[in-house]
Amino acid sequence: MSDRKLTLTDSESGKTLDLPVISGSEGDPTLDISGLHKELGYFTFDPGYGTTASCKSDITFIDGEAGILRYRGYPIEQLAENSSFLEVAYTLLYGDLPTKGQFAGFERNITYHTMVHEKLNTFMQGFQYNAHPMAILSGVVGSMAAFYHDKLDVNDPEQRELAAKRLIAKMPTIAAAAYRHSMGWPSAYPKNSLGYSERFLHMMFSVPAEPYEVNPVAARALDLLFILHADHEQNASTSTVRLVGSTGANPYACVAAGIAALWGPAHGGANEAVLNMLNQIGSVDNVEKFVKKAKDKNDPFRLMGFGHRVYKNYDPRATIIRKQCHEVLAELGKQDELLDLAMELERIALEDDYFVERKLYPNVDFYSGIIYKALGIPTSMFTAMFAIGRTVGWVSQWLEQAANPTRIGRPRQVYTGAGERGYVPIENR
Ligand code: SDX
Repeated sequence: MSDRKLTLTDSESGKTLDLPVISGSEGDPTLDISGLHKELGYFTFDPGYGTTASCKSDITFIDGEAGILRYRGYPIEQLAENSSFLEVAYTLLYGDLPTKGQFAGFERNITYHTMVHEKLNTFMQGFQYNAHPMAILSGVVGSMAAFYHDKLDVNDPEQRELAAKRLIAKMPTIAAAAYRHSMGWPSAYPKNSLGYSERFLHMMFSVPAEPYEVNPVAARALDLLFILHADHEQNASTSTVRLVGSTGANPYACVAAGIAALWGPAHGGANEAVLNMLNQIGSVDNVEKFVKKAKDKNDPFRLMGFGHRVYKNYDPRATIIRKQCHEVLAELGKQDELLDLAMELERIALEDDYFVERKLYPNVDFYSGIIYKALGIPTSMFTAMFAIGRTVGWVSQWLEQAANPTRIGRPRQVYTGAGERGYVPIENR
């Protein structure tokens, strides 16, 4: 640790306290305030944790001002261009790009964990046909502790790694099953002869009545989207996974909590909300009206897919996805007027002082739905797609924390309620 510090002086008592500065390998200097209450009797107040570092991590680095995203030091642009989702998964889990042998072993391992316990498929049948896939995903993943209870000792590194691989391998199987349940189709079992993204598309869209060939363009587009969604340091759902993990809860409970957090429209649910918003806007003629609504403090309408807590520049993932939209639609021979609408919406917003002053740019969710739609994936499944990619980040961050156990997460508060008062019997109230 450097000897850089920040000295606080309490105007009440005149006491001073030197707060040490922690510097990571990259990023802004961070004050270590862990001794603040003990030494000066103060807590800190930071609703939404906008300026609070909850942990140290080696996994993902974001520079919000510069629009930089790196997984284990590798720039997202290079991984998007050259890697595959499973290779990125290995890198996030273990820290470095795998050798050929390491990757072959990892891919084989994931492939042979893709099936789920048959009773899980029976469990799935209990949901209503119109249940939202994220409701099914969070329920089924949480129930995995009831089916894979054989290896749940979170203090055993081997059992932790097995649970992580089971989650990465089975998430697509569960998500595809949720979609098939809504269609009234029979279960589709994973085909181990296919790659990760091909296998998912086959489980989604194959029907027993006829052969189903996976379109390689669709598979590559999906694999890229999984890469872009894989991790994003301490976002709301990952922080949820870490907080639940800090209690010693099992990994399935932790990831189920992460799925629940991701579902919110302010987080991963935004990709579904963007498509609904674009359909609501309907045509380029209505863009100005909706941009005006987004700026009106008295109107709850927000430009979904715009803005970010960390990026105060263009989300590098949005840049890649926007480019991919054009390529995928062209290669699939498709058109989508919603893409033109989205681009016009972006153009007008980025010329408007309200968005420029607040540094509101398109984020990862703004364009992703255009590609999911082109692949035939229904809007209700968009956030489940995000969850498939982010499972790798959740389990990587969970493993990192479990290997370096922290104290249980327990934020404090500023109490603003009633002072002490006596009980009043109901007949006297
Ligand atoms: C993801 O954290 C991550 O890393 C998340 C994620 C990941 O990979 O895990 O990147 C994935 O969740 C992306 C974000 C998806 N959500 C949306 O697209 C929903 C729409 N965006 C907003 O709700 C909002 O921008 C957030 C939630 C993303 C960020 O909220 P903040 O950081 O709390 O920002 P804020 O609410 O304090 O906004 C600052 C100002 C406010 O105006 P003023 O009070 O200063 O006048 O900007 C305004 C906000 O009203 N604003 C918007 C807006 N987003 C912020 N105004 C209109 N439309 C918007 N989308």
